[in-house]
Amino acid sequence: MSAETPKSQFLSEEMELFGGPLYRPDPDADSGDGTIASAAKANEDYSSDLMTFRHEIENCQNCPLGQTRNHFVFGVGNPNADLMLIGEAPGRDEDMQGIPFVGRAGQLLDKILAAINLSREEVFIANVLKCRPPNNRDPLPEEVAQCEPYLRHQIALIKPKLIVALGRVAAKTLLRTEDQLKNMRQKPFTYEGVDLRVTYHPAALLRNSGFKPAAWEDFQQIRDLYNAKRKDAG
Ligand code: URA
Repeated sequence: MSAETPKSQFLSEEMELFGGPLYRPDPDADSGDGTIASAAKANEDYSSDLMTFRHEIENCQNCPLGQTRNHFVFGVGNPNADLMLIGEAPGRDEDMQGIPFVGRAGQLLDKILAAINLSREEVFIANVLKCRPPNNRDPLPEEVAQCEPYLRHQIALIKPKLIVALGRVAAKTLLRTEDQLKNMRQKPFTYEGVDLRVTYHPAALLRNSGFKPAAWEDFQQIRDLYNAKRKDAG
């Protein structure tokens, strides 16, 4: 058994995540946030409009991914979230569970959210594509064309104040650009009239830890912007 207490383990994981001691909430303060079980609960607590929309689209067969998926991955979180995080598409774990970002990348995303004092219950997490592309290949333009209206409608119902595109594929898809991620981060964009920021996909941080300091800068800015927007709204 590890000699580490949960708190020191949290700190060492955080060091590993971002390469240094960071702003963070007290890890002992709330043991329930950000877990997959609590995310699943949030999943059931949709406002009725979002739930109705989910039922309308969850049997979608508008593209061939409908034939190969195990689960349609609608999204998870607060139906009135001020912050929406948008990834690329479900991977294997998400396809098995029907919940976005539950694999290794999702666990890292949970830790990043905790480090900026947020949880899955407070934000809404979705993907550009609702079904898993075989072998996790990039979404095809025709798949995006079929699926993006679903994302637009989710945004219209949730009405977030800030959207974060996670990774190059989500950013290039939403912003219709071929620009590199490093040129897009820390710049103001909008999508569907909502402020949007771009940062690294958690899977990219797992592959290349050299991106973590920049990602941490991005998430601190995202946190500040989110807090300012919430304050603005009174
Ligand atoms: N990667 C994504 O972009 N979305 C997920 O839901 C999981 C991994």
